[in-house]
Order: sequence, then structure tokens, then C-alpha cells
Amino acid sequence: MQIRQLGNSGLEVSALGLGCMGMSFGYGPAHDKNEMIHLLRSAYEKGITFFDTAECYGPFLNEELLGEALAPFRDKIVIATKFGFLEGDSKKGLDSRPEWIRKSIEGSLKRLNTDVIDLYYQHRVDPNVPIEEVAGTIKDLIQEGKVKHFGLSEAGAESIRRAHAVQPVTALQSEYSLWWRTPEEEIFPTLEELGIGFVPFSPLGRGFLTAKIDENTQFDSTDFRNTLPRFAPEARKTNQAFVDLLGKMASDRGVTNAQIALAWNLAQKPWIAPIPGTTKLHRLEENLVALDLKLSAEDLAEINEAVSKITIEGSRYPEHLQKIAGK
Ligand SMILES: NC(=O)c1ccc[n+]([C@@H]2O[C@H](COP(=O)([O-])OP(=O)(O)OC[C@H]3O[C@@H](n4cnc5c(N)ncnc54)[C@H](OP(=O)(O)O)[C@@H]3O)[C@@H](O)[C@H]2O)c1
Repeated sequence: MQIRQLGNSGLEVSALGLGCMGMSFGYGPAHDKNEMIHLLRSAYEKGITFFDTAECYGPFLNEELLGEALAPFRDKIVIATKFGFLEGDSKKGLDSRPEWIRKSIEGSLKRLNTDVIDLYYQHRVDPNVPIEEVAGTIKDLIQEGKVKHFGLSEAGAESIRRAHAVQPVTALQSEYSLWWRTPEEEIFPTLEELGIGFVPFSPLGRGFLTAKIDENTQFDSTDFRNTLPRFAPEARKTNQAFVDLLGKMASDRGVTNAQIALAWNLAQKPWIAPIPGTTKLHRLEENLVALDLKLSAEDLAEINEAVSKITIEGSRYPEHLQKIAGK
């Protein structure tokens, strides 16, 4: 397994991590627990050492799942989790008050069956709590031995700088893929300057870039993608052009859409470790092949050139969530 360092922190992770959200939350009902335990343990056997969860995935179910599944090799892996929603529930709004963070971590430690969180992210910047207070609370938790590394998610450049001045930030986790490249503009230079690693979430465009979803796909009624403008059936129809183009480049190289999307992501910076999510072992295996797919400078230029000609239809979040997402 290839290993990457997240920025200057010294935190080493498998170059591809595993996004665990969809096992319990977001994309329809929670999957069978024993099957997910098998998947998580297989991921470790295949070399994945970087597992991503959050207290709000479920809420709480996903952390409990990881706590049980990863226990046999807990000291060999990096577990990343997140705080920052009221009572741990993303439907209830933000809460990064220090007293909530302190409560939150106790719950996460218990559910994750561990005495330290390797990477603890603020899930979204809370406009009601100065980021310095959040960073100061994490600094205390690091001193107390409950957290090893501090992370932010979907934070803007100014928040990153302010937080980093109080407690060095190890990683930023934000959406980044062939159909959401905004972080390249302001975020990447900031991370590079400060020596912070980057963990792209939804690197497969929440599944859309893989070509396994089209305008006729029916999501479960509880699937979060039903609420995303970019996934509205009309938008999917338009955005199909993008997936077709990716498909052409993938088939020319004898690989799959998912593999080219991940290889492209990995090729952008050496301090990037994407966390594609899947609930299926055969897809996990397919995704891992991306690590051996080296895109040349010409390949990358061709992809950039081709995708720059296609406009993506639909914003990535509905308006109320767009407000708290990174720009
Ligand atoms: N910080 C944040 O705010 C935030 C937000 C969203 C996500 N995340 C994290 O990032 C992780 C990954 O993001 P994501 O799950 O939203 O999106 P993603 O990784 O872009 O895509 C996941 C979707 O793609 C499908 N998939 C995976 N591999 C595939 C393949 N080879 N072929 C076809 N389909 C494939 C999965 O379905 P199957 O399960 O059926 O394979 C799933 O529906 C999450 O699990 C979560 O840990 C963080």
C-alpha cells in the first residue's frame, strides 16, 4: 500500500482511505452490520489504514460500527471523526461551543472503542463560535491525550489561517473531484503554504462520476442525493455528458471511470489522500487499482482540457447547506 503524509504533520495514512458514511447514513438505510464489519476488516487486510467517520453519521451508528470492526487492529490505523453539529445531529444545526466539543469527544471515544482520536475534524465552521476558541479547545484535548491531530472540513482560507495560528491544523477535508475543483483556487495555495494535508471527500462525485448512476436512477427516499440540485433528474441528464467524456478517457486506457477519477485526484498533490466511500468489496478492490494508474502530464492536460469545456449543471448543495459549505 502506498503511504502519504498529510502535510508537515508527520501523520501517515494509506494513500486511499475509506469513507464510511454510506455504510450507515446519507445514501439510504444503514447496511447490514455484519456485512459492513467484514468490509471494514477486508479493507484493512488490503492495506487501507485511514478510516473516515463522524458522530453525525447515523447519528452515532457509524462510529459504533467502526468501534467494533476496527478494534482488532486499532493501534495500526488512523481513525478520523468529526464534531460540530448540535447534539451530534446534522439536521439540528451547528454547535462548536467548547462545552459541546468536550461532550462530543467523550461520546466518540466511547463509541469508537478507543482512548484517542487520531484526527478530529470540526465538521463545519460555526459562525457563532470564534474558530480560535475551537482550535484552543482541541489544543487542550491534544494536551490531555484525547486527540492526536486537528482537522477542519469545508473551512475557508481565512478560518484555516486563524485556526492554524492557535493549533496547527493537520488536514482539511473538503469536497474535491473532477466535478468540484473550486479548492484549487484559494484553498490549495493556503494549504501548501501552511503545510496542511488535504483529504478530498466525495472524490467520485457521490457516485455520479462512476457512470453507475444516470437520469433514470431512483434513489431510496431517505437518500440525501434526492435533495442535491446537481442530482436532480434534469441536471443528471445534462451532466451525463461529463461522465461520458470521462468514460471515453477511461476506456481508451482500459480502466473504469472510478479508477480514472481517483487517479486524477491522487495526481494533483502528493499531500492528498482521498476517501472514496463504498459498501461493496468488489468496488473497494476496483478503487484500489487507481493507486497503480499513473496519469502522465499529457494525460492530465488532456483531462483538464476536456473537462474545462463542459459546464456542470446544478449546485452541489441545496441553499441552506450551501451557506455553511466551503466556497
Ligand atoms: N466532511 C464532509 O462534510 C463529508 C461530506 C460527504 C462525505 N464525507 C466523507 O467522504 C466519504 C466519501 O464521500 P461520498 O461517500 O459522499 O462520495 P464518493 O466517495 O464520491 O462516492 C460514494 C458513492 O459511490 C459509489 N461507488 C464507490 N465506488 C464505486 C465504484 N467503483 N463504482 C461505482 N460506484 C461506486 C458508492 O456506492 P456503493 O456503496 O453502492 O458502492 C457511493 O454511492 C464519505 O463516506 C464520508 O466519510 C465527508
